[in-house]
Amino acid sequence: MMTSKIAAIIPAAGVGKRMKADVNKVWLNLNGKSIIEHTLQVFVDSGLFEPIVVVVNEDEVREFKEFLAEKMPEANVLITQGGKERQNSVFNGLQYLSTLSDGEWSSNNTNLVLIHDAARALVSIRLIKEVVEAGKKYQAVSLGIPVKDTIKEVDTEGFVTNTPERTRLWAIQTPQIFNYQLLYQCHQKVIGIERNFSDDCGIIEYCGFPVKIIPGSYENLKITTPEDLIVAEAIMRRNG
Ligand code: CTP
Ligand code: MG
Repeated sequence: MMTSKIAAIIPAAGVGKRMKADVNKVWLNLNGKSIIEHTLQVFVDSGLFEPIVVVVNEDEVREFKEFLAEKMPEANVLITQGGKERQNSVFNGLQYLSTLSDGEWSSNNTNLVLIHDAARALVSIRLIKEVVEAGKKYQAVSLGIPVKDTIKEVDTEGFVTNTPERTRLWAIQTPQIFNYQLLYQCHQKVIGIERNFSDDCGIIEYCGFPVKIIPGSYENLKITTPEDLIVAEAIMRRNG
């Protein structure tokens, strides 16, 4: 039987516009460590991924290399450069895996790839394990949580066009996990289409493949705006 590997891609090549800080938000301090250090540490500690690829801004490559050498010199964490949108950064990570010298990622069609936003620093090993287990069963899996707010679709003039029933709505999180070759092929298919995909499952859905949602956690928030940082700090302190 062919043995499968699981890679993790951590997109960290944003600018953090909504955080309104003067640096990429992944460097911001969360209870004594940077957001990116918290996130990476959980993945390194899980021991499940080979390799872990962080996707970083071109002008932060040096900073990331120094950070890894100082904070986690033993870990198998690789770096590649990001693109304009998150979708482009993930694509670069997938492409980077295909160029690794072992040839593993272009030849093995059972390998899995997990994608996790650097900005979700409160992810737990438990959630990672659950998504990995589901990834062995389904080709595309995401964590999701039932939305708390009522969600409305609104037109460009600010008028409501639709209110989907809340019981059917899920807020989507990362990690998400995929058959590597399926995700890479679907990413290649949507290059150039007039739509920006904010998550990788969206690309799989667009290409007509099923996506399984399993329960995430309200604690696994994406640190996006300044108040998220306050909430994240409080949750982390409570969890010790
Ligand atoms: N990301 C990326 N490459 C981009 C844009 C985003 O790798 N071109 C990463 C971010 O670093 C983040 C994750 O994708 O870890 C989720 O994106 P988001 O929370 O939107 O982060 P930013 O794009 O940095 O924030 P903003 O949209 O407020 O500018
Ligand atoms: Mg963004």
